[in-house]
Amino acid sequence: MSWSKPWLWVSPALAHKVSPTALNLLTSLTPAQAERWRPFLWNGLEFPNRLGIAGGVDKNAENIQAWWKLGCGFVEIGTVTPRPQPGNTPPVVARDTVQTALWNRMGFPSAGVDRVLERLQKLPRPFLTPVFANIGKNAMTPLERAHEDYILLLHKLQNNVDGFVVNISSPNTQGLRELLQPDRLRDFLGPLMQTQTGVHKKPVLLKISPDLDEAELDRVLNISYELGIDGWVLVNTSQQLRDGLDFPKEGGVSGRPLAPRSREFLQKSLRVLGKKRDGKLLVSVGGVMDAADVEDRLVLGADLVQVYSALIFGGPWFFKKVAKCQQVKTQKVPAPL
Ligand code: FNR
Repeated sequence: MSWSKPWLWVSPALAHKVSPTALNLLTSLTPAQAERWRPFLWNGLEFPNRLGIAGGVDKNAENIQAWWKLGCGFVEIGTVTPRPQPGNTPPVVARDTVQTALWNRMGFPSAGVDRVLERLQKLPRPFLTPVFANIGKNAMTPLERAHEDYILLLHKLQNNVDGFVVNISSPNTQGLRELLQPDRLRDFLGPLMQTQTGVHKKPVLLKISPDLDEAELDRVLNISYELGIDGWVLVNTSQQLRDGLDFPKEGGVSGRPLAPRSREFLQKSLRVLGKKRDGKLLVSVGGVMDAADVEDRLVLGADLVQVYSALIFGGPWFFKKVAKCQQVKTQKVPAPL
């Protein structure tokens, strides 16, 4: 066990519990200053760099300022649900340090949207980076009424975030992924997109499951495009990847084993979208473990990149490390004569 990563000494469950407080303590004396490399402008939003935290890292918006101080280019909070809920009963997280893989079946533990909203309202404005809210339904809400939960969340958070990520790709809420099935997606997503009109419109992204087959991915991309989606987050955890991993059958896997599939989904999506991609946001997540992986996803065509597992195995300084590599790379480019 590494002395430089003491959080890996404790159980994943305990680490998860104490990390929000630890992060705020760790960064309490650090000034908030954006880390600038490859800045990016999209839909009026200014991203100081291309690397952010993935959904699930800061579920209840407890650490947004800490992420800014650590050099994040954008933050995705959540998954936020309408009412508070505890999530699934333990065990809900595990890690494999040899394969640098994580497993979880958390099931959206959430403080509920009202608590999250209070925290967002207390943040200093303007935000140092864009903040997205990843939204999900409560476990008790039947699938047929799922859209009502999402619409409520869109309305409640609308004035306090810069955009949304619709999460119907988590494997840990019973039946949720059925909403991604092409025959249900239109009825579910249509009413959500209709709320996003006029001056208050905020961009809405759809988070994709890595367990879709090629035809399903094609249809999900095309249907969501027709309904006016603003972009996609590729990908959530996988229920299928289990080779050489001693994790339970249910739940989702992330970290290094997810990398090939996440890359493949990005490449396939770029092919399916073709020219339709213009103006849409593509966020790549899954198995991005070091600075070279970040670069790889950007070269493949992602606009933005996110990490979860890299923070667990590499620590919260990941953003600064990537920034340093990117800044060194920029300096190496010879100046034009
Ligand atoms: C997640 N992920 C996740 N995604 C999401 O949309 N909402 C969520 O609440 C969560 N919660 C969550 C908890 C834990 C413990 C893990 C490990 C993951 C999925 C996450 O955002 C990301 O898509 C995957 O983890 C793949 O990225 P990495 O971990 O390979 O960088």
